[in-house]
Amino acid sequence: MKKLFFGIALLAALPAAGNTPVYLDDSKPLDERVEDALGRMTLREKINIIHAQSKFSAPGVPRLGIPELWCTDGPMGVRPEVLWDEWDQACWTNDSCTAFPSLTALAATWDPEMSRLYGKSIGEEARFRNKCVILGPGINVYRTPLNGRNFEYMGEDPYLISQMVVPYVQGVQSNGVAACVKHFALNNNEINRHTSNPIVDDRTLYEIYLPGFRAAAQEGGAWSFMGGYNLFRGEHASYNPILMNDILKGEWQWDGAVISDWGAVHDTRTAVSGGLDMEFGSWTDGLSNGRSNAYDNYFLAEPYLKGIQDGTYGTDELDDKVRRVLRLTMRTAMDRKRPFGSMGSDEHVEACRRIGEEGVVLLQNRGGLLPIDLGKTRRIAVIGENAIKMMTVGGGSSSLKARYEVTPLDGLRARVGDKAEIVYARGYVGDPTGEYNGVVTGQDLNDPRSADELKEEALRVAREADIVLFFGGLNKSNHQDCEDSDRETMDLPYGQNELIEALAKANPNLAVINISGTGVAMPWTSKVAAIMQAWYLGNETGNALASLLLGDVNPSGRLPYTYYASLDQVGAHRLGEYPGHPGVDELGNEVMDMPYNEGVFVGYRFTDKNKLKPTFPFGHGLSYTRFEYGKPTVDRSSGSGNDVFTVTVPVTNVGDREGKEVVQLYISDLKSSVERPVKELKGFRKVSLKPGETAEVSFEIGRDALSYFDAEKHCWVYEPGDFEALTGASAGDIRGKVRFRVTE
Ligand code: BGC
Repeated sequence: MKKLFFGIALLAALPAAGNTPVYLDDSKPLDERVEDALGRMTLREKINIIHAQSKFSAPGVPRLGIPELWCTDGPMGVRPEVLWDEWDQACWTNDSCTAFPSLTALAATWDPEMSRLYGKSIGEEARFRNKCVILGPGINVYRTPLNGRNFEYMGEDPYLISQMVVPYVQGVQSNGVAACVKHFALNNNEINRHTSNPIVDDRTLYEIYLPGFRAAAQEGGAWSFMGGYNLFRGEHASYNPILMNDILKGEWQWDGAVISDWGAVHDTRTAVSGGLDMEFGSWTDGLSNGRSNAYDNYFLAEPYLKGIQDGTYGTDELDDKVRRVLRLTMRTAMDRKRPFGSMGSDEHVEACRRIGEEGVVLLQNRGGLLPIDLGKTRRIAVIGENAIKMMTVGGGSSSLKARYEVTPLDGLRARVGDKAEIVYARGYVGDPTGEYNGVVTGQDLNDPRSADELKEEALRVAREADIVLFFGGLNKSNHQDCEDSDRETMDLPYGQNELIEALAKANPNLAVINISGTGVAMPWTSKVAAIMQAWYLGNETGNALASLLLGDVNPSGRLPYTYYASLDQVGAHRLGEYPGHPGVDELGNEVMDMPYNEGVFVGYRFTDKNKLKPTFPFGHGLSYTRFEYGKPTVDRSSGSGNDVFTVTVPVTNVGDREGKEVVQLYISDLKSSVERPVKELKGFRKVSLKPGETAEVSFEIGRDALSYFDAEKHCWVYEPGDFEALTGASAGDIRGKVRFRVTE
């Protein structure tokens, strides 16, 4: 009898032949399918799909044919496969990826189309690897140059971030792979990352730290978000009711799924009510301690189930979580029409190289030292560890197993061939290792020579060369550009400052190519001829750099953050609240309170206000040609009750080679009832111009660009009065101004 009952129950659950149930019928509206699936699920099945079953997957509902949901890092390439329960490698032989440039490099292209290409390409690789969610992009605001993860983010400006994140998300998701925008929100440092408790007022939150996330959610239509490790107003970000419930799901009406950061959940009650939808990476006690039945012990697993069964929790929150996870699964793993993806294709290599070439920033070029003229150059000295060090391995969860990586030295050798002699000297030993979770670069960079011997060799090689290229900067080891620790100082490590100064004395034709994902102090700018900010550029690093240094490609990257001279120019440090001071959270746990005393004055907003002169301003970048700006004009038009102002500025290439200029528009509110930044970026356009060619570049300015956030009224305020539109080549190089009046 029992057997018969079981058989009948099973039959009822399975779709009748020829009669596709609504949840599997993709001609039906998504939410109808979700409701249908939800109605068929048992309590245990609902609990199962909201937490992990392995390091990177959740189980789906096998009985209903709802597939597993697989995530992967992100954000600069698809992470190699790890073991089911460990961070160690699964040792697949077919998971070597295209390593794309770091996201700071992408932001430095100032070209949303590059971002779309990036998203589309990385999404194709994730799809090919059968992943549903790629854990990226990272868009936390660059608040301090010390943040160990700046290289994974898109710089300091909320407008730039917003413009760049939207096409990235859309590009990824065109593959039926969800972007997972991280780390929502205020994850602006790695030091004390599990206990940092930013204290931020609402105006600062809405004007500086949220716009990128809002754009990703509302304009990009991101299907998932990742919560940060940090706290906000005493509650962890991954299930922070203000961030997740009030803002993301409430004000923004977002219908996606919130995924915890790995090991970011610490409590069932708050995880249930605080808007978290999926728990990953917890084990039982943080990121690294585990038990064999770890997944059942997740905060949103058995403890939640028991709590529902004993009446501690209702089921409304659970159903909301399940709906969101089902929606995410239907948009990805259950989308039968998604393309198949591709991995390591020629197109991806090309995308990697183009993005790198467009993102590198020529910061200084005295006497036109660059590009290298092979007609006049007999011998090139290449100095520095970063000329030979592979950088795709390391840095934390974004570490990659790249199909190949062309180092700067190899790229130069291939490009220069026998047209000039290239002599290499190491100069210093920094980090000779190259391993992350079992992925190895295969390089042995140990060098037994003493620091003096290395320096002496470098100086000799420099003296005998026509031009010296020093490749230094940071790398991806701890306390550099690396997750889970911040840098301890802005200075270059391994005695590089002294070495650069000595090289400059040995040969005035010195170009410093700084490879890093964040700003470093450059006390030697006046002593060296040329400086290039090169980021981590992935597979094509050496080829991209060689084409820029030799002038095959004209540099067009612009800084996505202010290049400070010292920490004293940074609001977070000058106002003394980094890395915070001990406090307690809502549950009485010790936290690090970190008041963001600089408020909305982050980056150039801070240096403008305090009249500080950074080494290089936000938006700065040179070209091998020159551009002149004409006088901007402004036109007003009224549409649907709102005034729209169109600012137009002519820009001419007055040099002798084709090049790209990033024309920037800043807005200044001349009189306001609140203190506003001196100016704020509200438009930019990258234009390609032949010698002698002029472009009329226009920007539309609407309400959004002119409003500030009123914390008391909790809304954006569009205030009548005089404004100024500033057009120029960087925040420190304004070439023209025009006034206009808002009368509404
Ligand atoms: C990082 C996330 C990453 C996750 C999974 C965490 O440590 O903060 O950015 O996606 O690990 O690897």
